[in-house]
Amino acid sequence: MPDPTASPVSMETLVALCKRRGFIFQSSEIYGGINGFFDYGPLGAELKKNIRDCWWDDMVRRRDDIVGIETSIIMHPRVWEASGHVAGFTDPLVDCKVSKQRYRADQLFFAAVVVDGNTVGYVSALESERTTEALQESADALKRKKAIQGKLEPVQARDMTEAKPDEIALIPSPATGEPGSLTAPRSFNMMFQTNVGAMTDASSVAYLRPETAQGMFADFKSVVDTGRVKLPFGIAQIGKSFRNEITPRNFIFRSREFEQMEMEYFIHEDADWAKCHREWINWCKDWLLSIGLPESHLSEYDHPKEKLAFYSRGTTDIMFRYPFGVQELWGIAARGNYDLSQHEKFSGVPQALFDEATKKKFIPHVIEPAVGVDRIFLAILCAAYVEEDVKDDKGNVEKRTVLRLSPRIAPVKVAVLPLLKNKPELVARAEALHKKLQRKYAVFYDESGAIGRRYRRQDEIGTPWCVTIDFDTIEKDGLFTLRERDSMQQRRIGEAELFALLDEKVY
Ligand code: GAP
Repeated sequence: MPDPTASPVSMETLVALCKRRGFIFQSSEIYGGINGFFDYGPLGAELKKNIRDCWWDDMVRRRDDIVGIETSIIMHPRVWEASGHVAGFTDPLVDCKVSKQRYRADQLFFAAVVVDGNTVGYVSALESERTTEALQESADALKRKKAIQGKLEPVQARDMTEAKPDEIALIPSPATGEPGSLTAPRSFNMMFQTNVGAMTDASSVAYLRPETAQGMFADFKSVVDTGRVKLPFGIAQIGKSFRNEITPRNFIFRSREFEQMEMEYFIHEDADWAKCHREWINWCKDWLLSIGLPESHLSEYDHPKEKLAFYSRGTTDIMFRYPFGVQELWGIAARGNYDLSQHEKFSGVPQALFDEATKKKFIPHVIEPAVGVDRIFLAILCAAYVEEDVKDDKGNVEKRTVLRLSPRIAPVKVAVLPLLKNKPELVARAEALHKKLQRKYAVFYDESGAIGRRYRRQDEIGTPWCVTIDFDTIEKDGLFTLRERDSMQQRRIGEAELFALLDEKVY
């Protein structure tokens, strides 16, 4: 389990590890990369698959009230009119006319520099953990540069969506440090557009989905009519979503192509939605703990009522302490019956169910836990990364990098290591075990280098166990040496016990 008291790993260190060990690469790197898109390498693809599989198993297969579906990425464009995305899925955008940089207005902060009650200029800073401090430092520097005497007042940080029209020309661009080049915020729709078919006119416009959720709403009736489901029940899906984010950042935290795991839990219109909402928040938290995230890194954030969409009854985010700050990991929203009502209105196809008790029709309400696979991936790496000092065989202190990944999530579950590669009997036994384990688990076979070095290589990618085949295995007891990643302790273990251990821990 990760150590919650450990000092957080820097993003630089994590990105370097991901590249060095084949977890994540920049997409199209040989062409200079493309901002906001990433590739998962051999270990990353395994780890990501494990996150998906655990979620699917726990959310869908191990429950009787939830079914899983897989819908198309490009849907009828009317879906996105009904959902409100065509009109309203926008971020406020600010351009710098000189540098050609683009900023999200709500992430670009500014403040008036006030000396003895008089505004003597403006400063700006991009949102960070220390936005206000950065603005205060810039205000101080501006006062000194202009050689103004008097008392500098504490800055009041505001974001660009709050800038008055006459202030915009006075706010310096973060790119140039000079005022006069920033534009007023304007709405920018984040959906990627494409055209379907040979024509590229208005009639062929379609969108890459910005969320998987609408697939569940659009297919609601089909699932009800074919799936033998009964309220309350959920429809879940895992799949890619696309958002033309103005400022993709923090590695895979905010990217333009990402993967979501969403579930729409439909309840009766008279059901206790607040209780159901709470139950799903708890479920999501417990699930995050089950895949190894430490409770100390998790917190909850309730969206203020006045900032909710008019149809929303409440949204709570499970937040995670990333190295760049506490940020949203998983949103759990009580969305009323807005989505199904909208699809009924736009498609003309009734979405209501019949209540046998009241003999009335009603449109179910929904609770929606929505999370990004990539954000979980990043949270897992941040929490799991540890550097520690350990002693080698000769008592020398050396640095050990370990990913303390849960066995459920680890990309390699067990490494099989023959003690020596030039002893055919050791190699043959190791290969036989490797083949047998491979039928059920992701296993790594490694025969090159000193055994200590091989252990370190596995520590760095989070392999929970190494199994060494030595001369005692062949000549005496048939047992292997099992070495545990976190404690580094070793013990002798037989094949049946090894399979039992894996069966218990990898589920
Ligand atoms: N259907 C609701 C919905 O999509 P959201 O808060 O926009 O809600 C849900 O997205 C989750 O998807 C977020 O909590 C986050 O984990 C993930 N997510 C959203 N935008 C993302 C992005 N640009 N990059 C990576 N993950 C993202």
